[in-house]
Amino acid sequence: MNDEDFKRRYGPVALVTGASSGIGDAFAEALAARGLDVVMVARRRDRLEALAARLTTTYGVQARALQVDLGQPDAAQQMLDAVGELDVGLVVSNAGFGLKGEHAANDPQAMAEMLMVNCNVPMQLAHGFIPRLRARGRGGIILTSSVEGLIGCPYSTAYSATKALVVALGEGLWAELQPEGIDLLTLCPGATESEAAAKQGIDITKLQNVMPAAEVARLTLDNIQNGPTFISSDHYRASFEALLSMPRRDALRAMAAGMKPR
Ligand SMILES: NC(=O)c1ccc[n+]([C@@H]2O[C@H](COP(=O)([O-])OP(=O)(O)OC[C@H]3O[C@@H](n4cnc5c(N)ncnc54)[C@H](OP(=O)(O)O)[C@@H]3O)[C@@H](O)[C@H]2O)c1
Repeated sequence: MNDEDFKRRYGPVALVTGASSGIGDAFAEALAARGLDVVMVARRRDRLEALAARLTTTYGVQARALQVDLGQPDAAQQMLDAVGELDVGLVVSNAGFGLKGEHAANDPQAMAEMLMVNCNVPMQLAHGFIPRLRARGRGGIILTSSVEGLIGCPYSTAYSATKALVVALGEGLWAELQPEGIDLLTLCPGATESEAAAKQGIDITKLQNVMPAAEVARLTLDNIQNGPTFISSDHYRASFEALLSMPRRDALRAMAAGMKPR
């Protein structure tokens, strides 16, 4: 699809959560490059405002910063209220975070927040925006899950469970929305350059097969009509296909051996 067709179908405005860094920042830029106005959501207002200024200057689009704490139960409603009458044709529910290590050692409060940000927000955002997309008769929703949503991932168990919810949400919505001309794609990234690794105490320079966030965003937008699920990395697609073809217990034991903190 060329940029003009993309903008006609998914523009004029896209909403992107988690746009203050990593994959969300890259989504916002890739969408602005295709000529869409963007509403960018996160907590760090300074980051959003700097990005908005850059996107406006570089691409001549309208870029708005919207500070929302997605851990709040009314976060989706705050976003719906803030966009008001803007004609949002694409919703990118991307914000999220992970917790690594033994499940019993996780902070219960952090797990509760993770459920809100990773699960409640995409579920409520889709619920709120579907009637608006339906009224337009065209548009799309992108949900960022993870390859860890495709199988229970030991030593990242709670995060993996939140991302499995996103995969299931995306599959169901894909089948509901496809006949109505609304595209749904669930992105499952493998390791990607962002702030996520450092936030989880992982040295990203020690990881292999790490993709640039800009490439993940570009490939995802290029594949928006190839739902329900898209694994952005060839390496992770091949390794997860192999894993998922194994007897489940063997796959989980192999993963546990690889993931166990040393
Ligand atoms: N990087 C990877 O290897 C990888 C792999 C698989 C899946 N993913 C998924 O990709 C998505 C994007 O992550 P990333 O890798 O780009 O990580 P990142 O650089 O840490 O970005 C996370 C984004 O989510 C926002 N966010 C987190 N908690 C929030 C809250 N309570 N309220 C508002 N915004 C919040 C952050 O903004 P503020 O801190 O400014 O609020 C930030 O913009 C996540 O869903 C993640 O699970 C990443």
